[in-house]
Amino acid sequence: MSAIEKPLEVNSDFSPEKMNSSFTEFKQNYPEFETTHILDELRELEYARLDWQDQIYLDYTGGGLYANSQLIKHMELLQCNVFGNPHSENLTSMAMTKLVERARNKILSFFNASPDEYVIIFTPNATGALRLIGEAYPFEKGGQFLLTVDNHNSVNGIRVFAESKGASVNYIPVKPSDLRVDEKKLEIYLGKAKLKGNNLFAYPAQSNFSGVQHPLDWIEKARKKGWDVLLDCAAFVPTNRLDLSQWNPDFISISFYKMFGYPTGLGCLLARKAALNKLKRPWFSGGTISIVSVQKENWYCLQQGDEAFEAFEDGTINYLSVPAIEIGLKYIERIGMDIIHKRVMCLTGWLLDNMQALKYTNGQIFVKIHGPSDLEKRGGTIAFNLYHADGTPFDCQVVQDAANKAKISLRTGCFCNPGDGEVSHNITRNEMASCFENLKPSSMYPYGSDCKNHESCLAVKTKMASIRVSLGLVTNFSDVYLFMNFLHGLMCEPKIQVSKAEKVKHRAFLNKGP
Ligand SMILES: Cc1ncc(COP(=O)(O)O)c(C=O)c1O
Repeated sequence: MSAIEKPLEVNSDFSPEKMNSSFTEFKQNYPEFETTHILDELRELEYARLDWQDQIYLDYTGGGLYANSQLIKHMELLQCNVFGNPHSENLTSMAMTKLVERARNKILSFFNASPDEYVIIFTPNATGALRLIGEAYPFEKGGQFLLTVDNHNSVNGIRVFAESKGASVNYIPVKPSDLRVDEKKLEIYLGKAKLKGNNLFAYPAQSNFSGVQHPLDWIEKARKKGWDVLLDCAAFVPTNRLDLSQWNPDFISISFYKMFGYPTGLGCLLARKAALNKLKRPWFSGGTISIVSVQKENWYCLQQGDEAFEAFEDGTINYLSVPAIEIGLKYIERIGMDIIHKRVMCLTGWLLDNMQALKYTNGQIFVKIHGPSDLEKRGGTIAFNLYHADGTPFDCQVVQDAANKAKISLRTGCFCNPGDGEVSHNITRNEMASCFENLKPSSMYPYGSDCKNHESCLAVKTKMASIRVSLGLVTNFSDVYLFMNFLHGLMCEPKIQVSKAEKVKHRAFLNKGP
């Protein structure tokens, strides 16, 4: 059997006594943790399935987990009512419309957004929200799209719309040491807004790779200099308060399943009404149109005012799932976002301290964290690589397989964040270029042995791969302790060799995933 098919057994020396004494020490170092005990109660009550199955879930940036009560409330609602497709005048339709409107209002109040200023546009996910901006923002020759290097690919992809309309595209670099932006450089980039053009600046409130949280006061700074600001909040809002009475980005992208696990298939674009007026939709569809004629006179979307969302919600929204958003947001409110945040930060701090303390007797570090090594301006997402005693990196696939065996859900690859991946692994422009030789710019190609640049792609992807753990709503001490125990076991294992054929098989998946 190959090494990949038979993952290595992690040599765990777990004992409840050792865990208890570490927990006591942890609470002494992070006394605020005690104030978050409601989440331990909820973990037992609402998420017992995790412990029944011995699952250690550390992929909250990939997707949040739902509470049992969310499902029950939603199912009860559906079982006890008759709902039709909204936006009609019949009774079942109006009943649904009412709940959809309630969900919009709940989202606004959750984020403290004034209904006079912001509007909610339902989308399938954060990517759907970003795509709406990409295709409708008035990019043009003389205009600009400026973005930080650490954006998710769903933001990076907007550059294709920008370039195709002749706008210039520029990335603001992040520093290899901590994957943050040099603020002096930011000022220079922001100072280049073209006063007569349309300028869009996009950044993540939290990087889904490094956990870096960029300052939200960039929003006002950028807007004052002539930029429209797109703040990607997909990785930020699950464990941080976003107060839109304090911060006023023009566009915000969110996926609800990342906040409270259920429902999937729904996100939103939170948009300033004034900024929406700027957008020009490239087409119309059912649901978006105020008036259109088949005699080709014209078509017209209502893009302004309280009903502006109608111009952006294509076809029928996922209406039966929408009430589950209100249920989820109320659930989070009952716990309190500050409690969730505090807990995640305590556990992240403990993990960072302990991961970085692992060293071989020859002095070689075991873990290299990509991004901030302490709790300063970061969230609960940690990207890292592991090293053998001789300084060579662990194959991430070996780690993934061993984690699966230990029932630990973590993620490997570059997490759709090539910028942070390239910088943290010091991948040069030339190395990247070798993946695109012989290909037309931006063409799609099948990744496989028939790809002309297969070998170069494989080498780059292998070099760029990291491991990511992310903490969330119901992470508890036992999760992070057992994860540390797992790392400790890996450190003690002899080096595993992976054959080239196995690497080829697995690398195809490396660039995938949120
Ligand atoms: C920061 C960030 N932006 C955007 C996305 C895309 O989210 P979705 O796949 O739900 O559209 C993700 C997904 O992980 C993300 O972390």
